[in-house]
Amino acid sequence: MFHIRDFISETGHQQAGMVRPVRPELSYLAGKFGLDDPELAAIHRQLAGHGLEYMSIAPAEARILQFLIRGFGIRRVVEIGALFGYSSIAMAKALPKDGRITALENDVARCAAATANARQSSVAARIEVRCGDAREQLRSIAAPIDMVFIDADKSGYLEYLDWAEDHVRPGGLIVGDNTFLFGALWGDLREGHGIGSQTVQVMEEFNRRLSNPHLYNSIMIATAEGMTIAQKL
Ligand SMILES: C[S@@+](CC[C@H](N)C(=O)[O-])C[C@H]1O[C@@H](n2cnc3c(N)ncnc32)[C@H](O)[C@@H]1O
Repeated sequence: MFHIRDFISETGHQQAGMVRPVRPELSYLAGKFGLDDPELAAIHRQLAGHGLEYMSIAPAEARILQFLIRGFGIRRVVEIGALFGYSSIAMAKALPKDGRITALENDVARCAAATANARQSSVAARIEVRCGDAREQLRSIAAPIDMVFIDADKSGYLEYLDWAEDHVRPGGLIVGDNTFLFGALWGDLREGHGIGSQTVQVMEEFNRRLSNPHLYNSIMIATAEGMTIAQKL
């Protein structure tokens, strides 16, 4: 079922400086391939109450992650950047019963919200939220990992990619969100994201590395924010 909230999530947030471009094809896509999940919709409402909904992936993007998890037989996921746990819970729902996701979040209040939401969710047993800087937290996570979802500070994407390349098993997935870098990669930066030239270089390099056909079976999807998806060869 298509809700007006999904439409707003996919197309045009009214938050100052955080406006996503209105693209009719994404509105159409959200209507056909969104998610009708009351548990997840409640977390988007919670985020909206804090003016943070624009930071979370949209329902149709959650469906992409679920598609990948089911289609590639993913069991062990690491998420870098949990916010309130919307994407963690969405991914956990697609995992098999013995699947696990470890979600990392460095903001204390957001981590508390993600932890509470995960515990109250129908997939609590599959989610562990760890609070603290991802660079620290990753040191204590052992290989092999089936899938890493990178959705935290954009300046750290290359460090997260280094870690993922070392820890994801051959055949596993590395997925990066916001890989259009809000238009900054082609010089059309939307205001309010505080993106500097160094971060542009980081994201250019991130996409360049993952586009290498000798190392990855990979694609980039034109979601509102860009999503890079790479299967390690
Ligand atoms: C785009 S939001 C994540 C959205 C979430 N994946 C979702 O779709 O619901 C990015 C999150 O990464 C967190 N973050 C930023 N830098 C981080 C770091 N170094 N370590 C852990 N989390 C970080 C931010 O506090 C923020 O909540």
